[in-house]
Amino acid sequence: MLKGKNIIVGITGSIAAYKAAYLVRGLIKKGCEVQVVMTPAGKEFITPVTLSALTGKPVISEFFTANTGSWNSHVDLGLWADAVVIAPASASTIGKMANGIADNMLITTYLSAKAPVFVAPAMDLDMFAHPSTTRNIERLRSYGNTIIEPASGELASHLIGKGRMEEPDKIIEVLEEYFDEKKKSNLTGKKVMITAGPTYEKIDPVRFIGNYSSGKMGYALAEECAARGAEVTLISGPVNIKARNKAIKVIDVESALQMHKEALENFSQSDIIILCAAVADYRPDFVAEKKMKRKEGEEIKISLVPNPDIAADLGSKVSPEQVMVGFALETNDEENNAVLKIRKKNLDFIVLNSLNDKGAGFRTDTNKITIIDKEGNKFPFELKSKSDVAKDIISKVSETISLK
Ligand code: PMT
Repeated sequence: MLKGKNIIVGITGSIAAYKAAYLVRGLIKKGCEVQVVMTPAGKEFITPVTLSALTGKPVISEFFTANTGSWNSHVDLGLWADAVVIAPASASTIGKMANGIADNMLITTYLSAKAPVFVAPAMDLDMFAHPSTTRNIERLRSYGNTIIEPASGELASHLIGKGRMEEPDKIIEVLEEYFDEKKKSNLTGKKVMITAGPTYEKIDPVRFIGNYSSGKMGYALAEECAARGAEVTLISGPVNIKARNKAIKVIDVESALQMHKEALENFSQSDIIILCAAVADYRPDFVAEKKMKRKEGEEIKISLVPNPDIAADLGSKVSPEQVMVGFALETNDEENNAVLKIRKKNLDFIVLNSLNDKGAGFRTDTNKITIIDKEGNKFPFELKSKSDVAKDIISKVSETISLK
């Protein structure tokens, strides 16, 4: 699993730096190519000679190589790596990573890296417990970095405090799991269509009927699919966010009718269809050409006609090879309503979120979901960031597609 992977091992100024030699040796034994990048403080704790003897490559520590004057490109290094492992990561390095203070080769490489980053903190208990360290570690997590720490049970049995660097063989296990999981959940070559955001149903040129969807959940799903190698078509209602990954093609729409048309056009070439949009079920039967004027004392009634149910329409056409996933946003009798929607819309599974759960549903950066599959199995998840929720959903999509 790790064989042939290019790994950057970043070593910083901590007493645990000696463990990095075991980490490097272990990675090489697994068939990795390792490039060590050290901070100036790291070199105070372990000599570069030891590490270059293990990797068969000069250790990189400065922006320029002293004797030749040649420039070490952090950008090239960042692109070369399949993973960056910073072990040990001192409080100072963690602080610089969290705040983008690029004053050494390791931090510039970290900021340029496109690969996943794993961080094994190492410091004494008081430094570890300081609010600034806790905040910086949380920041790294929010950037998508994986923090590797000894399990709390292990700490108790060793009678050693928090802040101790995880053992090299455990770090290697985490990396192995990551690449294994990645292989299992790879979506390279797959085409994914996602609907996201609200729809606006026009009343007149200045007014519409809409809902509170921000698009955050749908865009997080699109980013996750693209990160796993899929080609993504994101049919988006009016939102204030932009897709970051270039593999995401955004089709902007406003109304349910426009979303329906685009979904039908893209449906047959899609392997995976995820319907996350909050589509208006009804639209005004008449759109005034000019702004409707207030008439004192007069009541206005807007009559509504049903919009197409995009999910149900696609569900009637779905092939056995395609995976189709819907969402259910409920306020009451949540699970029963969600199960009815799986059948009505012919879905492989539905993602239930309830407005009764704090931090779930519209506009928030977090969500709390239960996945219910068409066999009736239920998979509840904790409250998480929408990007982590997207990971859980797409892992389930990968599992479903592998069983087809
Ligand atoms: O955008 P955010 O602010 O991040 O919020 C995310 C979200 C709450 C919008 C999202 O997580 C969510 O729950 N989306 C579905 C909301 C919804 O409209 O649920 P529903 O139960 O009304 O619809 C059921 C399913 O049918 C959904 O997959 C929906 O996209 C689809 N549908 C509904 C009506 C319709 N006319 N056409 C459809 O395709």
